[in-house]
Amino acid sequence: MITGTGVVKTFKQRGKVLGAREVRALRGVDFAIPKGGAASFIGESGCGKTTLGRIIAGLESYDEGEIVIGDVPMTPLRPKQRQPHFRKIQMIHQDPYSALNPTRTIHQTLYAPLSLRAKQTGRSAAWIEERAAEVLSLVGLDPGTVLARYPHQLSGGMRQRVVIARALTVDPEMLVADEAVSMIDVSLRLGILALLKDLRERLGVSVLFITHDVATARYIGDDGELYVIYRGQVVERGPVDTVIADPVHPYTQSLLSAIPVLHGLERPGEEPVTPLSSLDESQSDEGCLFARRCPFQGERCAGERPLLRITEGIPQEHACFYPERRSVIARPMSEV
Ligand SMILES: Nc1ncnc2c1ncn2[C@@H]1O[C@H](COP(=O)(O)OP(=O)(O)OP(=O)(O)O)[C@@H](O)[C@H]1O
Ligand code: SF4
Ligand SMILES: [Mg+2]
Repeated sequence: MITGTGVVKTFKQRGKVLGAREVRALRGVDFAIPKGGAASFIGESGCGKTTLGRIIAGLESYDEGEIVIGDVPMTPLRPKQRQPHFRKIQMIHQDPYSALNPTRTIHQTLYAPLSLRAKQTGRSAAWIEERAAEVLSLVGLDPGTVLARYPHQLSGGMRQRVVIARALTVDPEMLVADEAVSMIDVSLRLGILALLKDLRERLGVSVLFITHDVATARYIGDDGELYVIYRGQVVERGPVDTVIADPVHPYTQSLLSAIPVLHGLERPGEEPVTPLSSLDESQSDEGCLFARRCPFQGERCAGERPLLRITEGIPQEHACFYPERRSVIARPMSEV
């Protein structure tokens, strides 16, 4: 189990035009990802998905809050003491080409982490070779064909499989897949998604999936939770099918209304939901973060910040003063 409570991250950006400014990338996020479970983060560009994924994988520091891996809280530990815990969480990046060293063969790529592991656990050189072949087979690649090759000699899909194989060399408990299929040819995407799903089932590894695309979030973990993130705040969270079929937060409703096909889950209804206008950078930090774009705002919205919570009659958590099931209208992208 990996949990987070009140995770806050603020970046200081220096711009030539606007001068220094603070970006509140995460504003107190809670999450819980069970062992072997699945979770997906969705939300538009810049909402903080990657920042949260990188913090969970130990690749980025956080300013406030707590992250607990297993039963060990990370905050009191020094960076070096945190390392063995965060090593259990491996990140799969968007671009498999830049994630691999082009001057190294796949054998060399896998050899480095495996030899370290062999040293730590007193295993032999033969074990390294066996394990390299094994992790490649686990990701559906033929070791005999792939080991001697360089990344540029493989397809994008095969490269992403190598990246996943490399992550498996440390026996991870969780894979964080950040837009892991977005740069891969469409025809190869489903194979990678099926692989992540298969690894969950076969190895009991949990998967955190970061995406713009609700349909893929559902494919990886229809038994998992969906976190809808808006400007660094989780605004709706619950079982993936509940949130998709019956979203109650206007932001989730707007996101879903722009998606043409939700595999039969969308329910065309009377009340159209306004699709999102583009994000206005000058939006205020007062009250509900979505207020300026929200078609349903009421009197509390401008002055008070709604926090994520459960209210009567609604199964999923939501951060809205006026939650309501509204029909999601799937529109062709051309009309949005
Ligand atoms: N290293 C950094 N330095 C300064 N600002 C950063 C840094 N990393 C992220 N940010 C800012 O934090 C905010 C959240 O960024 P993040 O990359 O987490 O968003 P995202 O949801 O992953 O977006 P996308 O869908 O485009 O990948 C953005 O405003 C971004 O500009
Ligand atoms: S709290 Fe108000 S402004 Fe915010 S999403 Fe709900 S209705 Fe809209
Ligand atoms: Mg990102």
